[in-house]
Amino acid sequence: MTEQRPRTRAVRAGINIDPAHSAVVPPVFLSTTYAFSGIGRPGEYDYSRSANPTRSVLASAVAQLEGGAGGVITASGMAAVTATLLGLLPPGGTLVAAFDAYGGSWRLFDALERTGRLVLRLADFTDPRALDDLAGADLVWLETPSNPLLRVTDLAATCAAAHAAGARVVVDNTFASPAVQRPLEFGADVVVHSATKYLNGHSDVVAGAIVAGTREVADELAWWANTLGVTGGALDSYLALRGLRTLHLRMAAAQANAAAVADLLVSHPAVTAVHYPGLPTHPQHALATRQMDGYGAIVTFDVGTEAAVRALVDGMECFCLAESLGGVESLISHPATMTHAAMPPELRAGAGITEGMLRLSLGVEDPADLVADLRNGLDRALDA
Ligand SMILES: Cc1ncc(COP(=O)(O)O)c(C=O)c1O
Repeated sequence: MTEQRPRTRAVRAGINIDPAHSAVVPPVFLSTTYAFSGIGRPGEYDYSRSANPTRSVLASAVAQLEGGAGGVITASGMAAVTATLLGLLPPGGTLVAAFDAYGGSWRLFDALERTGRLVLRLADFTDPRALDDLAGADLVWLETPSNPLLRVTDLAATCAAAHAAGARVVVDNTFASPAVQRPLEFGADVVVHSATKYLNGHSDVVAGAIVAGTREVADELAWWANTLGVTGGALDSYLALRGLRTLHLRMAAAQANAAAVADLLVSHPAVTAVHYPGLPTHPQHALATRQMDGYGAIVTFDVGTEAAVRALVDGMECFCLAESLGGVESLISHPATMTHAAMPPELRAGAGITEGMLRLSLGVEDPADLVADLRNGLDRALDA
């Protein structure tokens, strides 16, 4: 069979594989248990926590899109983070994680460090000096573009430095999705996702994904996910598979909307800063152009004060004030009081998160409506 392109693979994952009725769309298998054909003779599936046919179709689709050897679907992004961490880090091992990693990941790393289970070192991987400081690391944890400042890490250089230091590399690819960036191509060992975001894409499923570059590591992490009991549900997998079919179309539309909105933001007098890798003024714009297919669909900006934030947000019609990202609908969030509220203020300030900062997750609406709505909000912020 001819090799299919990623967009075709995403659309056609599991299509027309049903041996019972030739259903074009693969059925959802809700059964928790599967009959043995005799003593000591299980079929391919025996119990749904260990493996489920619907989940398997999604896992292999995500693994193919990431260019990996195998995948695991988990009950949430944090379940993927937990299984990966426990599976890859030796007891008492040293984890070097991006200092601006997702707050929930940081909370887990910090809790495991405080209870003596690992040694945590935080690093700014956008600073090349961090690459000289990886001695003793067992695992390196990256997130690029980062949240909410959209800093971009050089994946090839960081993976090479980590491997030279004897460490394995995990990349949280939630913010880009495999339609935009494939970290395994740059040397990462494992990719994790909050599939709650772009992979599902409709803000109606909480799920996670792990993809490993080798079959051996994929099997090891599948073992951990099963043993911990954090594998994903059949219905969630079915919905996420449906969402995944349009990943490339959604990402193209959302990225175009992000570019349109960034154009408005750089020209509006209410805005004091814009963080978006697609802007030539972004410090890692050239790197983003090299390692991403596009610049993602998140745009962060600053309007200076909390009063301006309130004036902008009150009255938005096309952006919901809500946490999360990656759905077809556009969202606006205030990191200081929402996604990053649990972070100690000094760490928040160190990560560059201000009171006047807002983060947009662009959906797939008509760009003219999004730009008009945001322009009205910015005009309100200017008067605040
Ligand atoms: C980058 C990133 N990683 C992991 C997670 C955790 O995913 P979940 O909420 O699906 O557990 C999130 C959630 O926001 C995230 O943004």
